[in-house]
Amino acid sequence: MQNVDIRKQWEGAAPGWAKWEATVASWMEPATMAMLAMADMKLGARVLDLASGAGSQTLSAAHRVGPEGHVVASDISETMLQCVQENARAAGLDNVTTLAGAAEDLEVSRDHFDAVICRLGLMLFAEPAKALAAVRDAVKPGGKIAVVVFTTPASNPFMAKPMQILLRHAGKAPPSPGQPGIFSLGASGVIERLFTGCGFVDVEQRTLDVPLQMASVTQALEMMQEAFGAYRAVLSDTPEAVRAAAWTEVAQTLKAFETATGFEAPAEVLVVAATKPA
Ligand SMILES: C[S@@+](CC[C@H](N)C(=O)[O-])C[C@H]1O[C@@H](n2cnc3c(N)ncnc32)[C@H](O)[C@@H]1O
Repeated sequence: MQNVDIRKQWEGAAPGWAKWEATVASWMEPATMAMLAMADMKLGARVLDLASGAGSQTLSAAHRVGPEGHVVASDISETMLQCVQENARAAGLDNVTTLAGAAEDLEVSRDHFDAVICRLGLMLFAEPAKALAAVRDAVKPGGKIAVVVFTTPASNPFMAKPMQILLRHAGKAPPSPGQPGIFSLGASGVIERLFTGCGFVDVEQRTLDVPLQMASVTQALEMMQEAFGAYRAVLSDTPEAVRAAAWTEVAQTLKAFETATGFEAPAEVLVVAATKPA
């Protein structure tokens, strides 16, 4: 998929992503805390948040670096960045700015940032190695990048099973190895090889269980339909009847995660950090 299509996909999902952002933020809270800690973010640091979305982790980073620090939220979707600006203003933060564009085409000063973070973004990039090469130029020697990505389909059935259903209804094949996709960087060793291949050293990884709890199956389905850009994209060029049949089958599948109090699905992420050689 080309970045022009990825931008369109995420512009379409941006209002839904903003609507469900608080749910994603609380789902990803332990991973976000680990990512910020592994990025070694200090008071006064300059931080780049790649693929910021509506910016919940941008704001966490901005609190962490304090008023002397600064966070640049960057995303391919300008609508996402408007949300970041509104959310930063509402939180009373004046140390956040935004930069629109694809991570692969990042244009910032060389050796400018102390740390770079990217939550649930890198695996969706058309050219993650190109983005990491741009990050390597942007971060200071000795500076860190820390990212969160999903692990494998087997450990994330709530994500994997619906994706299989949507692809089948749309008559499309799953992404082949090396292509962007929700699980493209989650298999053993893949992200480590990507980082070292892009000139980073001291790769450090943690695997975290992040079960998703929601009030109901209906809410989980709505979040997937409204906010998950990669899921919406699978059905974007299919007739309405195909979409309706696909989502009906997804709804049936999600019932496997129904509990006495609502919805709970296992999920697993990798938090990975690496350093630009000094
Ligand atoms: C799953 S959302 C994650 C958003 C946010 N980091 C979070 O965790 O809440 C993925 C984000 O990646 C952005 N994105 C996708 N491809 C991109 C690219 N090539 N460059 C920059 N941003 C990209 C999308 O616009 C979207 O905001």
